[in-house]
Amino acid sequence: MNRKNYLFLAVICVLVFSLQAVCLAAEKTDTLPNVKILATGGTIAGSGATNTTTVGYTAAVTPVDALINDVPELKKVANVSGEQISQIASENMTNEVWLTLGKRVNQLLAQDAIDGIVITHGTDTLEETAYFLNLVVKSNKPVVVVGSMRPPTAMSADGMLNLYRATILAGSKEAIGKGVLVMLNDTIHSGRDVTKTITDRVDTFRAPEIGPLGFFTGDQPVFYRTSLRKHTTATEFDINQLNDLPRVDITYHYANNTGVVIEALTRAGAKGIVHAGTGNGSIGKAEYPAIEAAQKKGVVIVRSARVGNGIIARNGEANDDKYNFVASDNLNPQKARILLMLALTKTNNPQEIQKMFWEY
Ligand code: SIN
Repeated sequence: MNRKNYLFLAVICVLVFSLQAVCLAAEKTDTLPNVKILATGGTIAGSGATNTTTVGYTAAVTPVDALINDVPELKKVANVSGEQISQIASENMTNEVWLTLGKRVNQLLAQDAIDGIVITHGTDTLEETAYFLNLVVKSNKPVVVVGSMRPPTAMSADGMLNLYRATILAGSKEAIGKGVLVMLNDTIHSGRDVTKTITDRVDTFRAPEIGPLGFFTGDQPVFYRTSLRKHTTATEFDINQLNDLPRVDITYHYANNTGVVIEALTRAGAKGIVHAGTGNGSIGKAEYPAIEAAQKKGVVIVRSARVGNGIIARNGEANDDKYNFVASDNLNPQKARILLMLALTKTNNPQEIQKMFWEY
């Protein structure tokens, strides 16, 4: 063979090998799950003045495509694409954003081409969004809500690893049918049970008394249990035709409370009030006149507790049967508010709403 022929053969070989490599890569990508990342803002999309700024930074500034590009490893575990739903610090979360988000999640999960969804979110109200979605998503496919306690600009920022693992979880077989999940700090929680427990540390998300559903070991999610409460496809709540949710507010009990907040909430048009009582959901004597006046206007009262843990015993610290109160089971006040809003889209009968609180 002359030199020209050798060269020709070499070029052919390079072309064949490159084609094979491209085919293999394409084959690999085809086997990856398709995960949509819906961004809402929060610290995970935040920015601080220096790499030691872990308080006093600005939340919700980085757009979703930049979040995805900052973690190139995401492309090794899923075919990811992003969509910006909102760009807010989560203390500014609203029912309106929830309805937009919930409807979009349902639209996307109805598509065969989508295997799972990750929602990036501020940690302050993350537990509320997760529980709302847990009640209104109509699919068994994984939905994972993720955030971070440190902005991406900080030393030891937690957002990138949290996002990477949330994406693995959203594309995993293990997460199917488990309800809406929350993934931070290597730990997988049920959206129903989890709450933020510490103002400023990365191990803030916990499910007090109940515990997490599982953990990550390396890139592998490992589940140990599931929630027994009805969620997603098993609930009766349908938000697809809703443009708003009934107004529900929370009132906090404390020594010397006169019920003035309950009067104000009733005047403001609340359809439901969650009472964050002391101890086992106790209501002060001085609050009863305001509560009874509210009920005469059709306001449904749910008894929860400011304690944050434990079950509210029906007919325990208050005569729920006599006063037509609803006991919140072990839902904290902010989660009880979400279930009460959704319950009021179906009925304002306290007995029927009580049944929902035992089920969800
Ligand atoms: C927020 O909730 O948006 C700010 C705090 C955080 O994400 O950790």
